[in-house]
Amino acid sequence: MILLNSVSKKFGNGTFALSDINIAVRRGEFVFLVGPTGSGKTTIFKLIIRDLLPSSGDVVVNSLELNKLPKGKVAAFRKKIGVIFQDLKLMFDRTVFENVYLPLDVAGIKSGEAIKTVNEVLSQVGLSEHKEKFPLQLSGGELQRVAVARALVLSPEIILADEPTGNLDPQTSLEIVKLLSQINEKGTTVIMATHNLDIVKNSGKRVIHINKGKIEKDEKAKEAEKEEKKDKKEEEKE
Ligand SMILES: Nc1ncnc2c1ncn2[C@@H]1O[C@H](COP(=O)(O)OP(=O)(O)OP(=O)(O)O)[C@@H](O)[C@H]1O
Ligand SMILES: [Mg+2]
Repeated sequence: MILLNSVSKKFGNGTFALSDINIAVRRGEFVFLVGPTGSGKTTIFKLIIRDLLPSSGDVVVNSLELNKLPKGKVAAFRKKIGVIFQDLKLMFDRTVFENVYLPLDVAGIKSGEAIKTVNEVLSQVGLSEHKEKFPLQLSGGELQRVAVARALVLSPEIILADEPTGNLDPQTSLEIVKLLSQINEKGTTVIMATHNLDIVKNSGKRVIHINKGKIEKDEKAKEAEKEEKKDKKEEEKE
């Protein structure tokens, strides 16, 4: 469960990026976060991974109150979250395989197991044939898939995808959404930010509309509320 309770974020220069927003995303949900440029989408993601702290309000992820999370526990907390960054953050001097291998190496996974996992994940995202290539040898859609693979490789409970279809044509964008949907069907919570309304139209998924740091509309939110109590009980048991 991801909760933002009355969250505001004001930056040092006086910019109000978020004003008193409330969001509840239950485990296993797929949610689109839609809003124009500068509306606060990336700021929400940064709050969820505790890269930023709110100016007021609480952010709670899997029952952890992030305001109170000691700095020393942030790295372990983040392992549960796979992030596809807006600017991808790929290493251009490393191959596709090496880019996806890196998080496992950092996490101290033994090489035999890590190699097996990387190959499985690359196959899942359809990149097996490209694994020895460098990022500059790939198309935009393939690059996005590398970022998806890297976010997936530690089997996170939550995936945050920040504009993963940024510069892609409509067909390739739909393929990325389909890939994220397949991951979601296996139980991973997915939040995908985009400013492309065409992608979310007719998706049948929950769509949170944000504008100028405020939630304008949260479609299908009622269903989430119903499930909220159920989730709370489950989390209390853990
Ligand atoms: N570190 C910062 N310092 C000051 N202002 C910031 C900072 N980061 C973001 N902002 C401002 O906060 C607002 C929200 O930014 P944010 O990056 O969350 O928007 P976004 O919805 O992700 O936009 P885009 O679709 O262009 O990625 C913007 O007005 C932005 O200029
Ligand atoms: Mg952004």
